[in-house]
Amino acid sequence: MPTQHYDIGIVGLGTMGANLAFNIAEHGYRVIGYNRHAERVEAFRKTAAEDPALAERTRATTDLAEFAGALRPPRTVLLMVPAGEPVDQMIEALRPHLGHQDIIIDGGNSHYTDTTRRLRELSREENKCIHYLGMGISGGEEGARHGPSMMPGGSKAAWEETAPILHAAAAKVDGEPCVTWLGRDGAGHYVKMVHNGIEYAVMELIAETYDLMARLLGLDDEALGRVYAQWNETELRGFLMEISADIFDQREPGDDRPLIDLILDVAHQKGTGAWTSQDAMDLEVAVPTIDAAVGMRALSVDRRRRGELSQRLPDPPPDKDATKGYDEQFIEHLRQALYTAMLLSYAQGLHLLRAADEHHGFGLKLEDVARIWRGGCIIRADLLEDLRALYTAEPKRVHPLDDQDFAQRVANGLPALREVVRRGSERGVPLPGLMSALAYLDAYRSAHLPANLIQAQRDYFGAHGIERVDREGQFHGHWNRAASG
Ligand code: 6PG
Repeated sequence: MPTQHYDIGIVGLGTMGANLAFNIAEHGYRVIGYNRHAERVEAFRKTAAEDPALAERTRATTDLAEFAGALRPPRTVLLMVPAGEPVDQMIEALRPHLGHQDIIIDGGNSHYTDTTRRLRELSREENKCIHYLGMGISGGEEGARHGPSMMPGGSKAAWEETAPILHAAAAKVDGEPCVTWLGRDGAGHYVKMVHNGIEYAVMELIAETYDLMARLLGLDDEALGRVYAQWNETELRGFLMEISADIFDQREPGDDRPLIDLILDVAHQKGTGAWTSQDAMDLEVAVPTIDAAVGMRALSVDRRRRGELSQRLPDPPPDKDATKGYDEQFIEHLRQALYTAMLLSYAQGLHLLRAADEHHGFGLKLEDVARIWRGGCIIRADLLEDLRALYTAEPKRVHPLDDQDFAQRVANGLPALREVVRRGSERGVPLPGLMSALAYLDAYRSAHLPANLIQAQRDYFGAHGIERVDREGQFHGHWNRAASG
């Protein structure tokens, strides 16, 4: 066997790394895997041995020198290790084994600022310039094995060199691979971060519809599963809808109770949703539905306090005219409300991407972003086809709401969204996702906001200045400060 025989090396043979390795190998490439733990390498070899083609095209080792030595130059190494310190440590460990023009791809959920820093550090050395790609990968275990959505950014040269492998491994929609080079520096990881922010928002919104149907209508799990399955046959079709329908059907082997009712009502987070909110705050872009979703995860974890307060502050009394059971009209309102709030969540994310692109100079094409999110990833949904078309027609579009058709689609669902929020709030059902989407749209629909009062207050207590409707420039009010003394 020739010594430099392998097309790509994967560092980290956990679930994602191993599945990606098999996916790539299935497309005819030779893949070598590295893991410092012998058990992982053993498990990888065992799975590979089940399929002669995979066994023939893959190899795994605990020896980094052997790993790097087996790669065909320019060597391509895909890191599938946890974000943060492990990425820096692995780059340091690999560096002595890599040469000029070799390529490192970070396939984890790294913060985009880390990616930009690493990329710059690695490209600095004149005789040993390593090309770096920061690539968000979405789709979980299934996606990794059978076609994820991949969001690379950084070195264009690295992209050109690795594109055939990434095209082969990516999910396809209408024959188009869900991967493309997105832009400079940490562009890929930025896009993945916003993907996750939208993921948080949509998960929260679906969860709120579950709460409403369970609490207001008293629907059981079987009926809930049916509703989500039906919704997945409509314009709401998407991966998160599909798995929600499946989830309500699940039973543990030997246990008749639905699994969903055995799961604790707390949702943790690894941080990418919060990063989206933090970055949006820094750029002064409103993404309230993403913020609400991040906040609700934190609140869900505070379970003891919720339990205590539920005793002291009971639900408002039910409306005696309210219909229990399968209220077809209300369920249709819920469907429209969810669709509208989902449209607004994707719009918030895309608006943030536009602002970030201007700020960081990534060179993003939002048409490409919408296109590669259509398949493989967690937020894949039919509505992305329309968003893609919107950016194809107007590549520089700043906000989806500036598009007449998009705004009209949102407006169509507005009465239903209002009705759902009204019904839920009357009964004390927490709906921060749906409410924030409604308020977001109402704020954008408001030619006049009460921000004049906020300006006045700032100037009153802090002399921050005021802008006036009748004159250009900065002024101060002659406030009668009696109240402050
Ligand atoms: C994906 C997901 C994935 C993420 C998990 C967990 O696109 O495949 O976004 O990257 O890590 O969903 O994220 P949280 O723990 O933050 O929910």
